[in-house]
Amino acid sequence: SSARPSGPASEGVGRIRPRRLRSTPAMRRLVAQTRVHPAELVLPVFVREGLAEPRPIASMPGVVQHTRDSLRRAAAEAAEAGLGGLMLFGVPLVRDAVGTQATDPDGILNRAIADVVAEVGDALVVQADLCLDEFTDHGHCGVLTATGAVDNDATLVRYAEMALAQADAGAHLVGLSGMMDGQVGVVRDALDEAGHLDVAVLAYAAKYASAFYGPFRDAVESTLEGDRRTYQMDPANRREALREVAIDIAEGADVVMVKPAMSYLDVLADVAAMSSVPISAYQVSGEYAMIEAAAAAGWIDRRRAIEESVVGIRRAGADHVLTYWATELAGWLAEEK
Ligand code: PBG
Repeated sequence: SSARPSGPASEGVGRIRPRRLRSTPAMRRLVAQTRVHPAELVLPVFVREGLAEPRPIASMPGVVQHTRDSLRRAAAEAAEAGLGGLMLFGVPLVRDAVGTQATDPDGILNRAIADVVAEVGDALVVQADLCLDEFTDHGHCGVLTATGAVDNDATLVRYAEMALAQADAGAHLVGLSGMMDGQVGVVRDALDEAGHLDVAVLAYAAKYASAFYGPFRDAVESTLEGDRRTYQMDPANRREALREVAIDIAEGADVVMVKPAMSYLDVLADVAAMSSVPISAYQVSGEYAMIEAAAAAGWIDRRRAIEESVVGIRRAGADHVLTYWATELAGWLAEEK
């Protein structure tokens, strides 16, 4: 018709106008392909033994090391916000070569699991980090051989014991973040033999050796010297993630994770295309710190950057996201409804 622009492009331009679907907030809401719901958010939390007050973590502004009391309050808030779960990390006062505090029922992480379960029951999936790095004096995720290498198979024995301690404390899900070969099968068998048939296993299947864990190491007061490149994946590798995921699913993983998130969205999309189990992604401490720092400098819009980063992780293929912004983001989502 005469209202259509003329010229060489008129055939396409006049008729096909993708901008129509972006014309109003209601139209954009109608056609939004990816949504974020509070139930898809999991809040990672740190609890430190022997604190009288919550202690701020310098490289993670807004995140604290909790006392057992302040952790209970954070858990209640998370449940109130409708989050999917909490992932607990413990920071003990005493560390040794084999991470004894990880399996002591009175160790800080096991006590904290019981505290949180007492506070929220099963309103949240109470999840525990199953790894030795916070508990060993050398800071590695496993026990060491006489020459200082990480001993895969000796570590599996400790992981099985740790799984039982966490399940006995009431954990609903254990998060295996140590990247030892065979860890999922060994932990699944140990849980089943002890009758913990309903405790779920989250496998950090594709966990990369990443610089973006830097602030986390402050958060847990890591003693690690060197790096984790003999067990965590090389950032250069994409195909290997699929192998790790396939192995973990075959060993009985209920959920698999890709970690970190933002620098590994291709991996997340690959895993989403082949996984038969739900997929978790961890927006790690360095991702948090970067956005907080840029926002504090006035260089980006904090809320929009947070929302965009999490929707991008969901869009790439994550079913749920571990993020330090989980409770705050859930509050915004409630406002937007
Ligand atoms: C290991 C573990 C780490 C993180 C979660 N579990 C640290 C590491 O592998 O070095 C990092 C999480 C983050 O950076 O937010 N127990």
